[in-house]
Amino acid sequence: MRSPFVAGNWKMNTTATEAEKLVLEMLDKLDRIKGAEKVLCPPFVSLVAINMMLQGSSIKLGAQNMYFETEGAYTGEISPVMLSELCEFVILGHSERRWYFGETDEIVNKKVKAALANRLQPILCVGERLAEKEAGKTEDVINRQVTADFKGIEPVSNLVIAYEPVWAIGTGKAASGEQAAATIQFIRDALAKLWNKSIAQDLRILYGGSVTSANIAEFIAHPEIDGALVGGASLKSEDFVSIVEQTAEIKGRVK
Ligand code: PGA
Repeated sequence: MRSPFVAGNWKMNTTATEAEKLVLEMLDKLDRIKGAEKVLCPPFVSLVAINMMLQGSSIKLGAQNMYFETEGAYTGEISPVMLSELCEFVILGHSERRWYFGETDEIVNKKVKAALANRLQPILCVGERLAEKEAGKTEDVINRQVTADFKGIEPVSNLVIAYEPVWAIGTGKAASGEQAAATIQFIRDALAKLWNKSIAQDLRILYGGSVTSANIAEFIAHPEIDGALVGGASLKSEDFVSIVEQTAEIKGRVK
């Protein structure tokens, strides 16, 4: 049985002071929610402080990116070794990394390998752009990303995948529950072919892209969708707590 999973990707938002305030607003309420794994992914500069704030709670910490080398002369980069002292998770291959910072599947593949080698669970993001969707290429794009991003990696169960259609991110135009569920089923089938059926059944696959407290139920009601990667709405404590509450509640009923 896959346990429900909700991660908040704060992106390049919140100063260290604002981040601590946001955590304080959510900490107790999130901590009390059973039945969903809860992960916060603040900016790098807040990881140390938030790691301390989350000690003894049921809330886990993730980073938003990392470099694939473990140490050395890579000015400005953060390594998996550094993160593994603070975090359990790291978002990799987010479309903003792929499209604004030129991250290729080859780079993403190196990062996934480096994360796994350093006891970090990747939250690997895949998804098609608008032109690709309109050209009917969603499945091709996703198949290419999954195959290339996991190239040379033995089947592993300690990672999470997020299906994030690029056209739905930060646009307020979320995919429909049906669309998301169908593509997530396609991803699971692709993983079954690449690795094996039992791993594909065990891996959590999330939906991400304009998830809010008003539409989360539509996604979570589908058994194929194991949770959400939430951007904008994760910066509002009430919304994020509500998204996690609804996820735990609805998934608890579906079981
Ligand atoms: P959004 O971002 O919820 O603001 O659309 C999701 C993401 O990029 O992970």
